Amino acid sequence: MKFGVDRREATSSSADAVAVGVFEVEGKDDRLPPSLALADKASGGLLAAAWKRREVRGKKRELTVLHRPDGRGRILLVGLGARPQFTPDTVRRAAADVVRSLRAKGARTLAYQLGSFVDGIVTAPFAARALADGSILGAYEFLRYRTSTEGGVEEASVHLGEERSAEERSLTADVAEQTIIAENVLWTRDIANLPADTATPERLAEEARALGKSLGLKVTVFDEKQLAKMGCGGLVAVGGGSSHPPRLVILEYPGGTRRGRTVAVVGKGITFDSGGISLKPGPRMAEMKFDKSGAVAVLGIVRAAATLKVAPRVIGVMCCAENLPSGTAYRPGDVVRTYNQKTIEILNTDAEGRVVLADGLGYVVDQFHPDEVIDLATLTGAQVVALGDDMAGLVSTDDRLAGGLLAASAATGEPVWRMPLTDYHREMVKSELADVRNSTELTVAGMLTASAFLETFVGKTPWAHIDMAGVSWVNPVTRKYQPSYQSLGATGFGVRLITRYLQDLGRS
Ligand code: BES
Ligand code: MN
Ligand code: ZN
Repeated sequence: MKFGVDRREATSSSADAVAVGVFEVEGKDDRLPPSLALADKASGGLLAAAWKRREVRGKKRELTVLHRPDGRGRILLVGLGARPQFTPDTVRRAAADVVRSLRAKGARTLAYQLGSFVDGIVTAPFAARALADGSILGAYEFLRYRTSTEGGVEEASVHLGEERSAEERSLTADVAEQTIIAENVLWTRDIANLPADTATPERLAEEARALGKSLGLKVTVFDEKQLAKMGCGGLVAVGGGSSHPPRLVILEYPGGTRRGRTVAVVGKGITFDSGGISLKPGPRMAEMKFDKSGAVAVLGIVRAAATLKVAPRVIGVMCCAENLPSGTAYRPGDVVRTYNQKTIEILNTDAEGRVVLADGLGYVVDQFHPDEVIDLATLTGAQVVALGDDMAGLVSTDDRLAGGLLAASAATGEPVWRMPLTDYHREMVKSELADVRNSTELTVAGMLTASAFLETFVGKTPWAHIDMAGVSWVNPVTRKYQPSYQSLGATGFGVRLITRYLQDLGRS
């Protein structure tokens, strides 16, 4: 979708649809709010009449379509709820609802009346960004395997009108930046949505190479032979059961300033997680093609960071393997030695994410001495049980880093909740046979014992772990409870969050 800024009034544009935000009004006042005067005029008085009938109430998710008597198209009124609860996320969700509702409805162009989405803390720049974000994300569909499409909005603009035409320059820059970020999310979704027969570890490595080429970034790919030589026993073990061998991929973005921080971003890239010899049950196993979402997010983050030229240096690490049972698969009882020479007692081959991350984390800390490490992983079912599928878990040993991520979360609307990590969890991953074990006797606090395991491989470097098991994809059932900007399949979670974190790191 093309998304831009237009200085004219939305109602005087020739767009197929004009979208206007409507706040919920308390009490019995049935006079049309002055903010809706222009829309009413364009509707030839239909809006005022509908308002009087209490057909339009401004309730959240309420959509009303009025057809313009001048034949120029339609006016779409979208409810924003009550003003005191109004946030940028309200706008993001409303824009996605608008774009969704226009799918297969013959509307190719869309004009937003910016002023109607501005109130209180939601200033014009926030509103404009949220409209771009919600529209672009909400219009996404994974079309690769579909032979017919219904068509929807292709071009949308934020219309400033007389009131805000002076801000055109800065708003245009805001919208342009948000458009780049949202497009990177779609790019990420397109790869994360590929099924495991296509998105093999080799393929993910190829995607990284192609990205490096197009952006002029250094990309290093280690294949299974090199991994074995380097001592990456975790990746070799987990990938051993598949005919698609494992890959460790390193992407280097040099940073926009000379003495910026170095941030390592490490992703879990299990292209399919059958559980291995500790086989998962059948129902919903198909969804385990999304178990690579962390590593694919790393690709999208590096792409966004390089495109936006963020200040910090970014080292992207993708730990890619396919977890399958076979005669060459790793087994419960095996002991694996990782890159940093630490040993893991394998008790459950389905706890494979932490085993591949052990190598990626150990490698990047040893080779790049980053100032901080952030890992993204669809790591535990326990995360979904604890926090649901609209919020990721954050575990960090560093309050500054955690605070920065929480601030980026608030700014982007990608929800993250911080969870504790204590010696209680560390005790549970100790092994009598090796340094650590990959699953515990007690099944309590699974997200946190997994974090304690990962911490072992990071050492003293400030570190944050994001368990995004629940938020990385939506299925037809979970989608009902998700905002419209999360389309079916991969969500691209983490790209907006971490890109924002990296941008802010340069500003402070
Ligand atoms: N990829 C899964 C985690 C997962 C489960 C993600 C459900 C999304 C939805 C991970 O590899 C896994 O299987 N974890 C196990 C760990 C256990 C065996 C210690 C789990 O959470 O059950
Ligand atoms: Mn697993
Ligand atoms: Zn997994």
